[in-house]
Amino acid sequence: MPTTPALVDHTPYERAYAASIADPEGFWGTAAAALHWDKPWDRVLDDSAAPLYRWFTGGEMNTCFNAIDRHVLNGRAEQAAVIYDSPVTMTVRTITYRELRDEVARFAGVLRSLGVKRGDRVIIYMPMMPETLIGMYACARIGAVHSVVFGGFAPHELAVRIDDAQPTVVLTASCGIEVQRVVPYKPLLDQALSLATHVPAHCVVLQRDMHRCELTPGRDLDWQVVAATAAPVDCVPLQATDPLYILYTSGTTGMPKGVVRDNGGHAVALLWSMQHVYGVQAGEVFWSASDFGWAVGHSYIVYAPLLAGCTTVVHEGKPVGTPDAGEFWRVIQQHDVRVLFTAPTAFRAIKREDPTGALFAKYDLSRFRTLFLAGERLDPDTYHWARALLQRPVIDHWWQTETGWPVAANCMGLGAFPVKPGSPTKPVPGYVVDILDDEGHAMPPNREGAVAIRLPLPPGTLPTLWRNDARFIETYLTRYPGYYLTGDGGYIDEDGYLFIMGRVDDIIIVAGHNLSTGAMEQALASHPDVAECAVIGVRDPLKTQLPLGFVVLKAGVMRAAADIVGELVQLVRAQVGPVANFKQALVVSRLPKTRSGKVLRRTMRAIADGEAWTMPPTIDDPATLDEITAALEARRPSTTPISPIGG
Ligand code: COA
Ligand code: AMP
Repeated sequence: MPTTPALVDHTPYERAYAASIADPEGFWGTAAAALHWDKPWDRVLDDSAAPLYRWFTGGEMNTCFNAIDRHVLNGRAEQAAVIYDSPVTMTVRTITYRELRDEVARFAGVLRSLGVKRGDRVIIYMPMMPETLIGMYACARIGAVHSVVFGGFAPHELAVRIDDAQPTVVLTASCGIEVQRVVPYKPLLDQALSLATHVPAHCVVLQRDMHRCELTPGRDLDWQVVAATAAPVDCVPLQATDPLYILYTSGTTGMPKGVVRDNGGHAVALLWSMQHVYGVQAGEVFWSASDFGWAVGHSYIVYAPLLAGCTTVVHEGKPVGTPDAGEFWRVIQQHDVRVLFTAPTAFRAIKREDPTGALFAKYDLSRFRTLFLAGERLDPDTYHWARALLQRPVIDHWWQTETGWPVAANCMGLGAFPVKPGSPTKPVPGYVVDILDDEGHAMPPNREGAVAIRLPLPPGTLPTLWRNDARFIETYLTRYPGYYLTGDGGYIDEDGYLFIMGRVDDIIIVAGHNLSTGAMEQALASHPDVAECAVIGVRDPLKTQLPLGFVVLKAGVMRAAADIVGELVQLVRAQVGPVANFKQALVVSRLPKTRSGKVLRRTMRAIADGEAWTMPPTIDDPATLDEITAALEARRPSTTPISPIGG
């Protein structure tokens, strides 16, 4: 049986937690002293526009200076800042803090020369290469606001983000590499720009040898050429409350939400988290096996490790297939990684390929300390497998793009608690998490409800949505006054451990990525033969959930269902992107609805997952659920009968 970490001493956690709640200004003001400030703040927490809160108002600092230049000046100039390890191109490259500062300063000069000013936006659509991180820091250096778009999104999604962010410049590469497949990025960008209304002044394109692309004269510039001649630019003092970046995350409609991150509060919270949540010290190697395009990549590949003076690993590969399920162990051994952060789905993928850990046994991981998992629920089976294999603490922690850093975790720098598999343990200092019923009353232990975080949220969390305070307030702050609504359901047990049971809205979690079924429905609805559609997330043993579409065809359509389904799969891939993992759809004659016309997605999902369900009293026509049940039964491999309870 795997053992859980010993109860070392939880008083440091209790002390930190109590202090953070009793006196947030004292707690975060002390934490902020670890950074360099060009001008001290006037107020730690500014509540003058509540429920919109701001941290460190009046303070001036620069995130790039604190993450890079500060370490060059303080003795880390020759330490590795970034290790780029790319099994898909057989490349390993180490960049010291001094080299990184120089490259970032030069690229900031490129942006300046292209007219990018403080507050201007820069969209970054790039693969897992150090240049992506350099582009992000170059923006931070001059106060431009970056918005990184994940490479697995299709041109339509990129276009939506371009129109919302209105960038002055777009940074891209000629291609990305997906295991055996080269993905040319330039045609995707060109298509996105033709769909978007906004026209950026320039695109800077990093040419990669495995696939070079044509540059559009007058608009496109070759990255290497412009970077070689640019004059370096120094860090600019910024308001702590100035935006550092916008990161779009799925909304329950097709329109993504532009999560804004500020400079000051973000740097304070991330730096604090490295020592206290992740238990990492300056000089150690921290690897977050994610992608720059996700919040995990922003916080724990790009910003937090460097703010803390660590070495970060930029890995252009996958847990399996590049070349095998021993890849993570190879990287950990080769680069002396002390802490790894990834999503449970990566471990499920490794477990599927190497269930006995034969590849693991080939590597020396004696210096490896802790595995952190987040992005989706860590199922107890995966927890036990990883724990038994690694013989190290396996820490489930829960957070969201919106929060930018963990809300609940077993804080390794504050004395670990015994693990309860299935729980990300307890709220991190700074967060008060309550479980609420429909009326907003706090629920007793072990009763499931809406997971909500009491306002004000700690520093580092989103202050608002990009140019849309109204949507921020409506989406997150209105349902339960005084609280931030997470969109997750869950409960807290008698020992204060939090259990997150899943989303209660129309967002699904696929391979650790948060996706909107609304965006997929929009794509399906654009097919000429489709009259109505619904997409739900159904349980999947590898990727947690996969989307499943239901479509009703227009009257008179006589084409074969299989042909239409094939087109629908291609349509979602083209409009949302391959990352949607949309590969299955069923044609039905009607969708199950309430009498007021709302599609009964929750019931459909329960049926698809083989869970117990009851006939909704408001259903318009129970026969529609019979048809759904039969269609799902026909695709189900198991023989478990599906039937309503008491219906
Ligand atoms: N550019 C272009 N296409 C991309 C892409 C990118 N950056 N990232 C993914 N895709 C494509 C994949 O190639 C795949 O295409 P396919 O349908 O043609 O096979 C599709 O999008 C789905 O990607 P994904 O769900 O990631 O599946 P996968 O089979 O490629 O990999 C895992 C599965 C489990 C190995 C991978 O999802 C993983 O490593 N996840 C854990 C780490 C992580 O990123 N977590 C995120 C937050 S911590
Ligand atoms: P994202 O914004 O993409 O990071 O997705 C956030 C969502 O992922 C959360 O609202 C949860 O639904 C889910 N999630 C993230 N981490 C965990 C976790 N440790 N346990 C359960 N769900 C998680």
